[in-house]
Amino acid sequence: MASLRNIFLVSLSCLLGLTAAWYNPIRNPGGSDPFLVYTGGYYYLLSTTWTDVEIARATTIAGLETATKKSVYSTSTASRCCNVWSPEVHYLGDTWYIYYTAGETTDLDGQRLHVLTGGSTPWDDFTYTGQLTTEWSIDASVLRFTDYGNFMMFSCFHDVTYQSICIQQLGSDYVSLTGDIYVISQPTESWETSGTPVNEAPSALYFGGTTYISYSASYCWTADYCLGLLTWDGSTDPTDASAWSKSSDCVFSSANGNYGTGSNGFFQSPDASQTWIVYHATEYSSGACNDSRYTMVQLLGTHTDGSPNFGSPVAWTHAYSEPSGE
Ligand SMILES: *[C@@H]1O[C@H](CO)[C@@H](O)[C@H](O)[C@H]1NC(C)=O
Repeated sequence: MASLRNIFLVSLSCLLGLTAAWYNPIRNPGGSDPFLVYTGGYYYLLSTTWTDVEIARATTIAGLETATKKSVYSTSTASRCCNVWSPEVHYLGDTWYIYYTAGETTDLDGQRLHVLTGGSTPWDDFTYTGQLTTEWSIDASVLRFTDYGNFMMFSCFHDVTYQSICIQQLGSDYVSLTGDIYVISQPTESWETSGTPVNEAPSALYFGGTTYISYSASYCWTADYCLGLLTWDGSTDPTDASAWSKSSDCVFSSANGNYGTGSNGFFQSPDASQTWIVYHATEYSSGACNDSRYTMVQLLGTHTDGSPNFGSPVAWTHAYSEPSGE
């Protein structure tokens, strides 16, 4: 239904001689834990399939709605066959890597971080390279600093009672983690503890000269699942929790029929003048952690103090133009 309507609206725009608009969601269903990057003339979109690591590409956001997904990796190895979640593709050195979560078929206790090594574009072949963590961990994402180097962020239970945000230094080979694991955010505020206390799905945001981490707070089977924001003080060692200040409330939460808005990524427009957010939501007003979740994309705004303004999840009828071109 949604895509028929989109085809009608896009055709109408073309007849009227307008620039083709596109509409959310851009992947529905199957749009959980989305990650999106623009590079070399293509947008690449990855989301959770539970069974394998898949990637799709298109030259426009509208094109992603119908792009064919390519499976780049799956395995029957029991320790990491299943519950394949949250793949993200990152460029480090001169190579693209996919960091993702996988575990066992029996339950979620075996969830660990893994890495695939690719080539000079995200469309090259990937090969399995290794397991990054030996304790429970999900939602790997890279965090970069000029003075402190690269880190892996993830959700963990590292000497804490509730699912928290951890960081660990990324090795110079980009396929290993080194040194200690540090907890930098725990679910302590009321808006982080709905259903059950959770902090997960960290994502780096470099905005207006400041480094932020967005993350998802509260339990995904509630409509209170939302985004929180950590702001780095700009100088303190990022492994020190005191380097980060937490938003006083959710910065992005359920609206316009989109519930449980979270597990996001950020990407730049082709000319790098705009920052866009990609996230998932569900139509179920009680929230959902399953494949009903769809992928949404929208433009980030700026508050008067220069910090990011996430606004509200847009209605599906909101017409967007393509991100700003080169
Ligand atoms: C997701 O969960 C909802 C609520 O329990 C259920 O109604 C729906 O069928 C599920 N959808 C999928 C795709 O698993």
